[in-house]
Amino acid sequence: MTPRVAVSPAYYGASVSDFLTDSTESIVGALTMNGGSVESLQRDAWVGQIALLKTALASCSGTLFLEFDVPRIGSRIDAVLVCGPAVVVIEFKVGERTFLTSDRNQVWDYALDLKNFHQASHLAPIVPILIATDAADTVPHLISAADDGVFPPVMCNGSRLGEAVRLALAQTSGDEIDAFAWSRAPYHPTPTIIEAAQALYSRHTVDAIARNDADTQNLGVTSGRVETIIDDARRDGRKAIVFVTGVPGAGKTLVGLDVATRRRGDTPTHAVFLSGNGPLVKVLSEALARDEVARRRRQNDKTRKGVIEQSIKAFIQNVHHFRDAGLRDTGPPADRVVIFDEAQRAWNREMTSDFMRRKKGRAGFTQSEPEFLLSYLDRHEEWAVVVCLVGGGQEINRGEAGISAWLDAVSSTFTNWTAYISPNLTDSEYDAGHALQTLGSKASVVTDTSLHLSVSMRSFRAEHVSRFVKALLDREQAEASALLGQFSPRYPIALTRDLAKAKAWIHSRARGSERYGLVASSGAQRLKPHAVDVRVQTNPVHWFLNDRDDTRSSFYLEDAATEFQVQGLELDWVCVTWDADLRSTPHDWTCHSFVGSKWQNVKAVERRQYLRNAYRVLLTRARQGMVIFVPPGDFGDATRRPEFYDSTFRYLRGLGIPTL
Ligand SMILES: Nc1ncnc2c1ncn2[C@@H]1O[C@H](COP(=O)(O)OP(=O)(O)OP(=O)(O)O)[C@@H](O)[C@H]1O
Ligand SMILES: [Mg+2]
Repeated sequence: MTPRVAVSPAYYGASVSDFLTDSTESIVGALTMNGGSVESLQRDAWVGQIALLKTALASCSGTLFLEFDVPRIGSRIDAVLVCGPAVVVIEFKVGERTFLTSDRNQVWDYALDLKNFHQASHLAPIVPILIATDAADTVPHLISAADDGVFPPVMCNGSRLGEAVRLALAQTSGDEIDAFAWSRAPYHPTPTIIEAAQALYSRHTVDAIARNDADTQNLGVTSGRVETIIDDARRDGRKAIVFVTGVPGAGKTLVGLDVATRRRGDTPTHAVFLSGNGPLVKVLSEALARDEVARRRRQNDKTRKGVIEQSIKAFIQNVHHFRDAGLRDTGPPADRVVIFDEAQRAWNREMTSDFMRRKKGRAGFTQSEPEFLLSYLDRHEEWAVVVCLVGGGQEINRGEAGISAWLDAVSSTFTNWTAYISPNLTDSEYDAGHALQTLGSKASVVTDTSLHLSVSMRSFRAEHVSRFVKALLDREQAEASALLGQFSPRYPIALTRDLAKAKAWIHSRARGSERYGLVASSGAQRLKPHAVDVRVQTNPVHWFLNDRDDTRSSFYLEDAATEFQVQGLELDWVCVTWDADLRSTPHDWTCHSFVGSKWQNVKAVERRQYLRNAYRVLLTRARQGMVIFVPPGDFGDATRRPEFYDSTFRYLRGLGIPTL
């Protein structure tokens, strides 16, 4: 009998009864015909799996899919059984005797990915099963499911598969799933920014990995608009500066990477992605390099990592290298399209001139960083485009000019450039009102709503997390409470005064390869009694990219990353440790800086703003949920008196954040 094939996104799909009568040959034929590998190793693995499945499912109903596509993870699930209300995800490790943590996480990740991003699986109970075919003969065990209906993986050897499946089906309940509709339901993946960068770099398009559906802000619309502006500028031989704004986690960096990817290679419109955020550039570049090395090794290509790193530099670079090239050379840069991520963090005039004097031996430098960078691009005779990606309220360091320095640069010197701005640039957190007015009278300005991204995609199950954090920091308590009430089951936030409880909470939440870590503001100097020392420089590459067995990785929950190390990046679960640098009062915050051996009040408006922004960055890093640890303080320690912390704890609890 011919198999019921071509049910995309699986290479093979059929009712279990048809699967049982189809010959192994014809099933393998279907798998290869629909895109599976024809290598003998793969064929042998399939033959083995099919035999095990035929035995295991002999008395089972439902529908079976083989090699089911998981776009975000970029691989395929060996087998998925949809039966009654349940989705059973099966991963085979043929010839394996032990259950490796990485294999267990792999099948768990598949289950979580379906749950989070595959529309028809949102409500379904999902049971992952890991089969190590040659493992010892132990009885399979099913632990109860998490709130979202995903069970921890069941593990057994090949001969126990049938038992594991029966166990799964006996423990699940709910509405019966229409398997055909299930297999065709849309997938709306939300990759991590690192996964997205890797996929884009390996020449996938953004459509393959990201959401572009009606429920979300259309990333494609923003990217597309930027593309048209670039094409027009080129056609007309003009210069243009584009400002893309967005709430934390809305996809600004992804838009930038998308535009840079599409204009890669030797095209005359080659674009480079720049950021002054050192850790972001380091982490993304290293992630790309590791991924590229691994991909090439799989193809027996032994190109050295150093060579690969060079080509990555043409794609993503620290803005300081770019600036230094502009100082060294007198001509224009190689690129005509330059994308600045975190453009709000560019330096103002004082900071730039101070730096030039001290570090580059150039006295009397009068330009701000935006002015200099624009002058470098302006050396092109014909066209050039600068794309500024701007995070509102995310300036976090002394001398960071915010976006107005870019606007001022255009108004004062580059009036021949056309400015394309998002209307949201007038919002208070961009602090650009005055500069915008001046710009309007000096240069040509085009306002375009498609240049704003308003929805947080990072917290993919709760789009209003960024708004909640803004309300929390702006002391809009009613608004913050209401928003929290809307998303709290889907995006849990917890509060505690016990760091051990916070860590336990994180451990109990994180599943599969979900990443977690500890963050603290760079001014959090009195967390040391809790073994959190922000003065120890955490290496962001190890922290973000290394595996869970590496003590330097975020998984150890030992080294805290500060706002400088985590800005622009993200984790699944975050423990925010809150020190006495930002303290709640009945109506506002007071800001403090630890100097010598005591806390001093911070009065300067700008520095107060940086501190608030630092907490905004920390509180918007988690994709799935966070716990906030507010220390209990200590009566015996004048630098950690309980009252420094109590009011903050009460304020957060008053918003409705549940305590542990
Ligand atoms: N359209 C989309 N579809 C799927 N995932 C998306 C989309 N847009 C953004 N994401 C994901 O959401 C997360 C946040 O995106 P990104 O880092 O680009 O936001 P951002 O605006 O730069 O945030 P920040 O202000 O913190 O720098 C990333 O994990 C990214 O991959
Ligand atoms: Mg970003």
